[in-house]
Amino acid sequence: MNILVTGGAGFIGSNLCRLLLEEHPEDQVSVLDALTYAGNLSTIEDLETNERFRFHQGRIEDGAAVRRVLKDDHIEALINCAAETHNDRSLLEAGDFLATNVMGVYELLEVVREMKIPKLVHVSTDEVYGSTATGAFTEESPLKPNTPYSASKAAGDLLCRAYFVSYETPVVVTRGGNTYGPYQYPEKLISFFATRLVEDKKVPVYGEGEQVREWIHVRDHASGIDAALRKGESGQIYNVSDKNERVNKEIVQILLARLGKGDELVKKIPDPRKGAHDMRYSMASEKLRSLGWAPQVPFEEGLGDAIDWYAHHQNWWRPIVAKPEFQAFIKRFYGPGLGEDL
Ligand code: TYD
Repeated sequence: MNILVTGGAGFIGSNLCRLLLEEHPEDQVSVLDALTYAGNLSTIEDLETNERFRFHQGRIEDGAAVRRVLKDDHIEALINCAAETHNDRSLLEAGDFLATNVMGVYELLEVVREMKIPKLVHVSTDEVYGSTATGAFTEESPLKPNTPYSASKAAGDLLCRAYFVSYETPVVVTRGGNTYGPYQYPEKLISFFATRLVEDKKVPVYGEGEQVREWIHVRDHASGIDAALRKGESGQIYNVSDKNERVNKEIVQILLARLGKGDELVKKIPDPRKGAHDMRYSMASEKLRSLGWAPQVPFEEGLGDAIDWYAHHQNWWRPIVAKPEFQAFIKRFYGPGLGEDL
């Protein structure tokens, strides 16, 4: 199959490309990526010598660019991993989130409809369901997003639903849990903290670190997307989750222990997300499992390997965190005093 992965120079997209090329020797994999702050060519450097891999720069909001790649590379399936994904950034400024996560998805749906592409998989998130103290969200649970980021993802998901109902556009939506592993832009809990701790810099725990996230290794998340592509039914939604609920402060302790660092590097700060900080995410993923998918990476092993990966791949993340853009975000989000103090 000829597959286009939009956002393929990002975290989940690049890991998905690796999985597709390894697991499906008959597949051709094309990437369209805008190379925003979170997409880097260094993330896909290892793929560029593969003759079944092609890279194109462009935005999903640019329908003409998407059309060109679909035509030139004879694409038979499109997987949309392109998104603005960081809650903290969306709390500062939501415009880019709406442009990519809503208008970009609209453009993709229009192009897929017009060009009769046989399959579109839209990669979404558990955050569209909001937070729950007990139980687990199913694909039928109501959408109650709490941040501009999660609201923009929910809007994209609803557009997918509407295109299937209105035009029978062959779209499948996946909703993944909190994902960890190699090549994650160093702004999320695990990638941010691992990279800072390596440099002996303090890490900011929001509030008391009591929030619960359900973690899945990026390889398992990618294989879930792949299963949804090959076995999922159009118009359906599939949760992609592993049963790994962890309190943030437990993750922090694992990071410290693995990197041989002490508690003095942990700094609890007043919760910058305030009311928008979801307390707990949890999803039931029986629907996808009934298609034969199951996560394979044990959490302790996967997290240990991921932390080691950041320790051993400083040549990947040091140029990223040295960029003025990255430094400016830290200062702007955590405040000038806190930014320097951190
Ligand atoms: P994050 O990795 O941003 O993912 P999400 O908000 O999508 O779940 O955050 C995971 C959890 O870690 C969340 O409860 C917020 C918390 N957190 C911190 O305590 N400090 C940080 O610097 C970051 C980035 C997150």
